[in-house]
Amino acid sequence: MAGVLGRISGRVAQMSKNSYNHLQNKFSTLNIKEASTSKKVLWGTMGLVGGGGVVLLIGLERSVSAEDMVLHPSHLPWPHNGWFQALDHSAIRRGYEVYKQVCSACHSMQYMCYRNLVGVSHTEGEAKREAEEVMVTDGPNEVGDMFQRPGKLSDRFPSPYANEEAARAANNGAYPPDLTYITSARHGGEDYIFALLTGYCDAPAGINLREGQYFNPYFPGGAISMAQAIYNEVLEFSDGTPAYASQVTKDVCTFLKWAAEPEHDTRKEMALKAMFIFSFLASVTYYIKRHKWTTIKSRKIAFKPTAPKN
Ligand code: HEC
Repeated sequence: MAGVLGRISGRVAQMSKNSYNHLQNKFSTLNIKEASTSKKVLWGTMGLVGGGGVVLLIGLERSVSAEDMVLHPSHLPWPHNGWFQALDHSAIRRGYEVYKQVCSACHSMQYMCYRNLVGVSHTEGEAKREAEEVMVTDGPNEVGDMFQRPGKLSDRFPSPYANEEAARAANNGAYPPDLTYITSARHGGEDYIFALLTGYCDAPAGINLREGQYFNPYFPGGAISMAQAIYNEVLEFSDGTPAYASQVTKDVCTFLKWAAEPEHDTRKEMALKAMFIFSFLASVTYYIKRHKWTTIKSRKIAFKPTAPKN
């Protein structure tokens, strides 16, 4: 830095005062007036192009295509919406009851184990009793035969069908998808599942449904091969909550949300901790930066050209 300054001042000192003034004028016009105009033009163009791009993207995102034939689900005020809201765990417990008594007749949840329920919706003893209700094929035993035994905590939820073909054969060719990750696998997540389960209605005139199809405006295309599964009092909740269709649906959606994102609560807890720690660190960093830069920021470097010596 000092070297550069020295060299510049050495050269300037050799110039005549007139040429120096001329140079200074030239620099001031170039740097401040001309350069800033071209920069302004450049930034202006970039702003226009960027802004236009954003507007175009928003337009494309919001465009409505007549081919879609889909009603978008409305956004519901879930108790777990928001940055710091946990899932409603009694709803998860009721939702498990709904899955077990209604949905599991057709849908598998093959990535869920009974041990996953422990500490979330059930105690260890309760989860063990749930597992023992199902029979699991195990083996081979010492004579090479497979055998049946009551389920254990480490067992997965049983699937209603042996394979996809069997599932399709039983459902008019439609495959009831595995529900473990369904809220993440469908656009709209639990809003969509809620709308789908409660949205059955009569097909409008002009829509012909095939045998075994039902009309649901939230399902892409409108014709779904799943009959309406949830009605008022389709089951009785063990905690005595009145089983209205909306309540049942809300609970099963919360359960499915938890199944797809079991880390939901810990994730938000971590976010809370991280935000607290990082905001503290940021203020400390800001203070240290100001502290270290004070000497540099308050320094003034003045350049005073001297007249040539002879
Ligand atoms: C009688 C069998 C049956 C029952 C009971 C049943 N479903 Fe279905 N479900 C199906 C079939 C079949 C499909 C595939 C529909 C299709 O592709 O047209 C399906 C599809 C779905 C889909 C996917 C829709 C999509 O966007 O692809 C979801 C979500 C779903 N079911 C949730 C549930 C829930 C939650 C329950 C319990 C409350 C339930 N189902 C009960 C048979 C059933």
